[in-house]
Amino acid sequence: MANTSSNKRRILVTSALPYANGSIHLGHLLEHIQTDIWTRFQRLRGHECYSVCADDAHGTPVMLKAQELGITPEQMVEQTRAEHHQDLKDFYVDYNNYYVTHSPENKEACELVYNRLNDAGYISKRTINQLFDPEKQMFLPDRFVKGTCPSCGAEDQNGDSCDVCGATYSPTEVKNPRSVVSGATPILKDSEHYFFDLPKFEGMLKEWIRSGAIQEEMANKLEEWFEQGLQQWDISRDAPYFGFEIPNAPGKFFYVWVDAPVGYMASFRNFCEANDIDDTPFWAQNTDTELYHFIGKDITYFHCLFWPAMLEGAGFRKPTGVNIHGFVTVNGEKMSKSRGTFIKGRTYLDHLNPEYLRYYFASKLNGGVTDIDLNFEDFVQKVNSDLVGKVVNIASRCASFITKRFDGVLSESIENQALLDEFTAASESIAQAYESRQYHKAIRDIMALADKANQYIDAQAPWVTIKDENKQQFTHDVCSLGIHLFRILMVYLTPAIPKLSEQAQAFLNDEFTWESAQTSLAGKPINKFKAMLQRVEMDKVSAMIDASKESLGSVQKQESPKKKEKAKPEVAKTGTPLEQDPIAETISFEEFAKVDLRVARIAKAEHVEKADKLLRLELDLGGETKQVFAGIKSAYQPEDLEGKFTVMVANLAPRKMRFGMSEGMVLAAGPGGSDLYILEPHEGAVAGMKVK
Ligand code: MSP
Ligand code: ZN
Repeated sequence: MANTSSNKRRILVTSALPYANGSIHLGHLLEHIQTDIWTRFQRLRGHECYSVCADDAHGTPVMLKAQELGITPEQMVEQTRAEHHQDLKDFYVDYNNYYVTHSPENKEACELVYNRLNDAGYISKRTINQLFDPEKQMFLPDRFVKGTCPSCGAEDQNGDSCDVCGATYSPTEVKNPRSVVSGATPILKDSEHYFFDLPKFEGMLKEWIRSGAIQEEMANKLEEWFEQGLQQWDISRDAPYFGFEIPNAPGKFFYVWVDAPVGYMASFRNFCEANDIDDTPFWAQNTDTELYHFIGKDITYFHCLFWPAMLEGAGFRKPTGVNIHGFVTVNGEKMSKSRGTFIKGRTYLDHLNPEYLRYYFASKLNGGVTDIDLNFEDFVQKVNSDLVGKVVNIASRCASFITKRFDGVLSESIENQALLDEFTAASESIAQAYESRQYHKAIRDIMALADKANQYIDAQAPWVTIKDENKQQFTHDVCSLGIHLFRILMVYLTPAIPKLSEQAQAFLNDEFTWESAQTSLAGKPINKFKAMLQRVEMDKVSAMIDASKESLGSVQKQESPKKKEKAKPEVAKTGTPLEQDPIAETISFEEFAKVDLRVARIAKAEHVEKADKLLRLELDLGGETKQVFAGIKSAYQPEDLEGKFTVMVANLAPRKMRFGMSEGMVLAAGPGGSDLYILEPHEGAVAGMKVK
């Protein structure tokens, strides 16, 4: 298919909106990378393809977490949004807009959708009975209730399911229930809720899920849900709730799963307004624009039942496709904090090149919903053998001869036209593989071509023929063809490894489109070849895993009394301000780099009963809170500390103290007693920043 303007597609793509109360991790990244590869592929083909995402800001967990941190939910959400966006950009995930659901555009869009549903008679009201925390004065979502399993009697189980016997139940059935928020015993309380009439859409939904919009395996799964019968969907939550108030319903808020998907519209609207684009055709029924949502299998219900029904009921188009992926496992197991395999995007970036991960995920993604295993041995092997050993190697083998012996200009003639044609001809089947999200097939085919290119160069042995006066033209032709083949491979790989592709384009003085694979650079100048990619080292991977163990499983060690003695030399009375610990021995940079120093905001500081040296601190690391017992009571009043920024060691091993877990250590200077000063970063530093 040539990309003439007549078949230029108009496409809007989204990824699921990450919750604003946690960090981006490798599971999220599978999705964002899958989306980004598809988006970049469409753009490279010349289509008009937009991609948007946002932080999912609303709901009880976000609200409570912000309270815990002593900031407003708005502040917390904005901090997290900026952090998420930066993480994604550093993986070269290129959204047109990364917004937040707590926005004026989203409020407006939610009200519009709701009013239309209401006007069409799809909203009803009913009083329900729910667990209520009398101390905190709020209704409790299931996960905020704990108690004894009504089935097997196991204690301390979740409000909706038991980890011991696997039973599921309603939180009102839990024995000895208690509120996770306050510890109080919840009471039952009536409240009027708003419901969306999902069953009305059964016929439409059944047809839609079989229209090719979702993978067959998931469509089959959805059949089971139809068999169980669709229910009225509870779309309201009572105040206090961080969200949007429902029109004409004071004290009632939209459930977060109502405004989250509408957030796709709002993020796009925000982008379109800034760029003078009309977004109407992207949401209108009977449109020829296309709309795709990339999501994980856990949120299928929301995207394949509620969302299309809401869209239809409000007079909007339904998604062209909901592309569902499986979960990331690491070394064959669920990501685990204690094993260090629950890896944050930022931790990965601290150790490894983002394109390794992009390439690895691309080589595994097959368009299905099965889980994707990130096996680190396989990862190292694949990146080194494919990207470094096969692809980049072609250029590095050929380029230096072109530069040194042939004035940096490629030959006019093509040494083996059939081989070049074979590379060119692969364009459509590789495009088809990207289009259908079978990236693994695209990568497999590209690597098979890379093998052919290397075999060709091996067979022609330009490093031998270059020594033969009579074979100069031949050598020039062979090396030039090597560069042409490398270039075509890089065109095909551009969606998966855009940064490496950019480097290749700079080297080749070229600007790729998908059509570039149909031409060669015969007779054109190239630049001096520079190393493009380092091999992955297994010890970098190990360091990343160690860092993940520490920074997440963490709860660090409190200074042992012995160590404290050492850090407190008896020098205070000498009067010299320069008294220091003698510097004992040097450590290597690696040893130092293991210490995860972070800017922390002291969200809370309080006395600890029966402790004469310690204060209990709650330290906000911008998305994560840690409890630390610090021996600074003799120098500070708790109220003077709250709101201050300091520096903490965030990856000390956890230590159980008499008063609770201590999850780190704050840095302070001085001999001790009242002469002790916590370190404060210069203003502008933000909670969670790494200190280096
Ligand atoms: N906020 C909702 C989505 C609202 S969309 C209108 C949410 N957020 S999430 O942060 O929990 O997940 C965001 C996406 O990441 C989801 O598509 C989810 O499936 C995906 N993943 C989260 N953990 C994952 C893995 N371990 N592996 C792969 N994807 C996973 O759900
Ligand atoms: Zn049980």
